[in-house]
Amino acid sequence: MRAAGIGNWDELVRIGGWDVGIRPPMALGVEAAGTVRDVGSRVTRFAPGDAVLVHAAPLRDQGAWAELFLANAADVAAKPADLEWRVAGALPVPLLTAIQVVAGFRGGRDETVLVHGAAGVTGGLIVAMASATGARVVATCSPRAARRVRGYGASETFDYRNPAWRDQARLRAPGGFGSVANAARGEAAGLIALVADGGRLATITGDPPRSERGVAVTDVYVAPDGVDLEAAAADLVARGLSIAVAGTCGLGGAAAALERVARGGGAYVVLPTG
Ligand SMILES: NC(=O)c1ccc[n+]([C@@H]2O[C@H](COP(=O)([O-])OP(=O)(O)OC[C@H]3O[C@@H](n4cnc5c(N)ncnc54)[C@H](OP(=O)(O)O)[C@@H]3O)[C@@H](O)[C@H]2O)c1
Repeated sequence: MRAAGIGNWDELVRIGGWDVGIRPPMALGVEAAGTVRDVGSRVTRFAPGDAVLVHAAPLRDQGAWAELFLANAADVAAKPADLEWRVAGALPVPLLTAIQVVAGFRGGRDETVLVHGAAGVTGGLIVAMASATGARVVATCSPRAARRVRGYGASETFDYRNPAWRDQARLRAPGGFGSVANAARGEAAGLIALVADGGRLATITGDPPRSERGVAVTDVYVAPDGVDLEAAAADLVARGLSIAVAGTCGLGGAAAALERVARGGGAYVVLPTG
């Protein structure tokens, strides 16, 4: 193990809100980057010494905040050489979530996408993956995050703290947005009115509203996929994009870091041997 992400979802695992196959007490952590120590006899994609990243759930043994981590080979991705270890450790869950959200969108130049909560680690990557399809993407975030969100490919950002933001956004897509992604807790129901008839609303915060006007509503829950993770990580690096890591800690500091992350402090990374 070289780096393991601490995300707000680890708090869900800790309190029993996300079943990852094993219950605490255990080492937490469902995403990681490191060097392959050994492989099973039928594993052909990887060999000892390979640099990899992974999201795993259900867990095979215990979580990734540890010196060693056991994962299914199918969940593992090769780490792009130019991807920093600490970023690689925090990338798997938000990046897979983003590509699984966007997989349900139509994509392409005729698509208009709204991403709500784009200042977050996952929300920002949803912008990046949606814009990569050629779609026109607009997003909500606080003004201090606007530059970063535009760097991910949003053509315009709206400050979600301004009560008029929905009216402003509606002017950009008079018939409604073809696809809307929600990455802000409790906010999905307030977005469905912005979706075009027959469009798509995907939420990652477990709050899918009832469908109306033929809108396809999806409650996206991240799933491991080593092949998709490998392609998306390589794509992100090739586009010169990354995610912000708010801080790092050793194994002894992980509990305190999780408290900060759960309060909205952004992604932290455990460096098990650092
Ligand atoms: N279903 C899944 O598989 C899955 C996967 C990953 C994440 N998630 C969940 O998705 C949520 C977002 O994850 P994340 O990694 O992006 O979190 P994060 O990095 O902690 O970011 C949260 C961001 O949400 C923004 N925000 C807060 N309230 C908002 C509101 N009312 N409207 C718009 N934006 C608001 C804040 O932006 P400002 O800084 O601009 O104020 C903050 O930066 C979390 O609840 C997480 O647990 C679910």
